Amino acid sequence: MAKKINLLLSAIALLVVLNACRKETPVTGASSPTLPETPYNYVSQNFGQIGDPFFNQPPNNMLTNEGATLGRVLFYDAKLSLNNTVACATCHKQNFAFADNTAGSTGFESKTTPRNSPAIINAGMSNGYFWDIRALTLEEQVLMPVKNHVEMGLENFDNLEIKLRKLDYYSPLFEDAFGSAEITRERIAMALSQFMRSMVSYRSKYDQGLNSNFQNFTALEKMGKDLFESWEMPCQSCHSGNNFNGWGTSASNIGLDENYSDNGMGDLSTNQDAAFDGMFKVPSLRNVAVTAPYMHDGRFSTLEQVIEHYNTGVKKHRNLDYRLTEGGGGIFFEGDGSGGPNIPVIDPLPGGFGSGEPRKLNLTETQKRALVAFMQTLTDYELMRDPKFSNPFTAN
Ligand code: HEC
Ligand code: HEC
Repeated sequence: MAKKINLLLSAIALLVVLNACRKETPVTGASSPTLPETPYNYVSQNFGQIGDPFFNQPPNNMLTNEGATLGRVLFYDAKLSLNNTVACATCHKQNFAFADNTAGSTGFESKTTPRNSPAIINAGMSNGYFWDIRALTLEEQVLMPVKNHVEMGLENFDNLEIKLRKLDYYSPLFEDAFGSAEITRERIAMALSQFMRSMVSYRSKYDQGLNSNFQNFTALEKMGKDLFESWEMPCQSCHSGNNFNGWGTSASNIGLDENYSDNGMGDLSTNQDAAFDGMFKVPSLRNVAVTAPYMHDGRFSTLEQVIEHYNTGVKKHRNLDYRLTEGGGGIFFEGDGSGGPNIPVIDPLPGGFGSGEPRKLNLTETQKRALVAFMQTLTDYELMRDPKFSNPFTAN
């Protein structure tokens, strides 16, 4: 009998050990990061270098390999939250292009964020952050989640600095990145921003197609691309530019609801003006196939549902963008009156275009499938398995 109990106990012990050895260690797992001898190369492949004039790198925080390495550690370090349970990566997951796969993400006290976590890719190609564009620069944006009472809860930045100073792996990383071991909130923000600017998505099937006249596309993908870009379709007029995000400062109302419970830009204290109600940042469509659920509140779980929204589901709203109204659809004004960061393009333009009545696109089933197929070509699978963006706290 005693032997049997012993056997049972060892079996349980073995199970416990096996479980502990499993690879899916949460971001809170290991206590110090494992980093390569020579830092990964973060600098070589950024949008600035492939010639995009909209890459927003401030001169006092140029991307370096050491800076991004520090940023990577900070991004994955749950010590940045009040109770050491939540890291940036808890809600911005590499395998979902640094988005989350739930409508609301879970913060440090198991409360849920009211909005959907956006994909952080090509952050250097945006000039306004959050769904309501309330932060104008990354350096300003990155510490907001640390303070946020739902997300990470560390409301006092003095405490953040004190906490990080006690962790011995940080001094050398700050020294490498900034020339001295001093740990300040400004440097934390700078390093996180560098890491995020280094997350450039440029290895999708679409990017390969750019260099080969899209010979690599299937007939359906090609049809989707032509539709997406055509003047009759209201897609590219908003999702424009290399990053399919309207050059990173646009916001619009796409008629998701007649009355929005979250009014986006309209709810910002600086914009207490009905003209901004229901306006949200135009998100990038890069990697959109892996960033479900969709929209600021994650209301759609598939791309097919998103297409159906544009096809038949647009609701009438006084701020509905003219491109989604009858008669306004084909008109495309690139750079029309965009007032820069935090000032969205207010449509219709003086004089007005479109009838204000929601437009029906009358897409055939094949056209719908084609649009989805095209959006799927924007996925950069390399980015999602690139070790330089992975969690350094889990030994590989
Ligand atoms: C609990 C989940 C959660 C955590 C933790 C979190 N985020 Fe976020 N993040 C979000 C949500 C939700 C939004 C959208 C919020 C909004 O628009 O109001 C967001 C937005 C962003 C954006 C804006 C992206 C864009 O294109 O507009 C960036 C950048 C970002 N987070 C970086 C970070 C960094 C850096 C950290 C760690 C310091 C972090 N996040 C921690 C959930 C989270
Ligand atoms: C008037 C500008 C505008 C037009 C036209 C437009 N979009 Fe959008 N799109 C947006 C905005 C703004 C959002 C986010 C809205 C929100 O969350 O409230 C969005 C969201 C999306 C999303 C979800 C992305 C995510 O990460 O959640 C997809 C996919 C998308 N649009 C595809 C398309 C396609 C395909 C077309 C053409 C049929 C199109 N869009 C036309 C502005 C536009």
